[in-house]
Amino acid sequence: MTLKYYKDELKKNASALAKPGKGILAVDESTKTIGKRLSSIDVENTEDNRKAYRGMLFTTPGLDEFISGAILFEETLFQKHPDGEQMVQKLQKLGIIPGIKVDTGLRPLPGANPIETFCSGLDGLVERAADYYAQGARFAKWRAVLQITDDGCPSKLSIAENAWGLARYARSVQESGLVPIIEPEILMDGSHEIKKTALVQEEVIKAVYAACQLNGVLLEGTLLKPSMTTPGADSSQKSEPKAVAEMTIRIMERCVPASVPGIVFLSGGLSEEAASVYLNLMNGIDRKAKWNVSFSYGRALQHSCLKAWGGKDITAGQNALIARAKANSEASKGLYVAGSQPSSDEALFVAGYTY
Ligand code: 13P
Repeated sequence: MTLKYYKDELKKNASALAKPGKGILAVDESTKTIGKRLSSIDVENTEDNRKAYRGMLFTTPGLDEFISGAILFEETLFQKHPDGEQMVQKLQKLGIIPGIKVDTGLRPLPGANPIETFCSGLDGLVERAADYYAQGARFAKWRAVLQITDDGCPSKLSIAENAWGLARYARSVQESGLVPIIEPEILMDGSHEIKKTALVQEEVIKAVYAACQLNGVLLEGTLLKPSMTTPGADSSQKSEPKAVAEMTIRIMERCVPASVPGIVFLSGGLSEEAASVYLNLMNGIDRKAKWNVSFSYGRALQHSCLKAWGGKDITAGQNALIARAKANSEASKGLYVAGSQPSSDEALFVAGYTY
């Protein structure tokens, strides 16, 4: 099969994922990262516990009202729920589209600054994506990471390599019928001002779409997953939420083609409440392009849910997940009233974050 064969399906699935009022639940933490989350609630990182936690998420009644898709780690895509049914079927029964993280992680980028990375996983990707499609996945994610430093990062090399990797990935998974979520994350690490983030982000996202053009990516069958345009976490110049929302939308307007159906932001270490407030403010701005502006949050959707579940209380965990999913759904329509749903203000930022 080729991209041409899947063209209509890719457009249909990208539009379904970008349906107004809905966003994406990112649950594709690697086994190491989920281990850190589980250890924060004193739960051991065993396959049974990972199943119990994610099985709890995927059987939350009414979740499909706010969530269009869930990004899974490979283990979960092929895993059974504790009750014996496939995890993928649990999501399909709820009306949530299963997705899969297809990158194989960040690696040092030789010739660049020692902190810079490229994202690995292109070898055999068309074939792997076909296997994931057969298992029920209909979209994919690939996370490239760039960092801003005082000594010139991100370098031109890192921008070129990461943009190229994202575009090659996007084209490769489209060949096998998966909608690519294109994620050029700019880390919050650093002491730079918001203006610097804006300059870097504009250059990076433009490079990504130029590479997509060269690779023949079908933009109508993709989603963009950027970070919000915030100052560095250690910046002495804090920005008001309204300034972050305005700057973020301005950068998106300059870079993201109108043919892309949706922009789904990552939360990147923002607290649950801040992630909802920023998204809400962005949706209050009269923007020039019609892409749906929504969320694909990991930490900002799962933090209070994980704590409420605590390894045993399924109902409390599901209630906390619904609270944040509903809040972010409202924010994606510009209708969120800050503090109207239980949430955590705890900053979820971790320096040099890996997923
Ligand atoms: P956060 O929302 O926790 O940043 O994670 C989203 C994600 O999928 C990162 O790749």
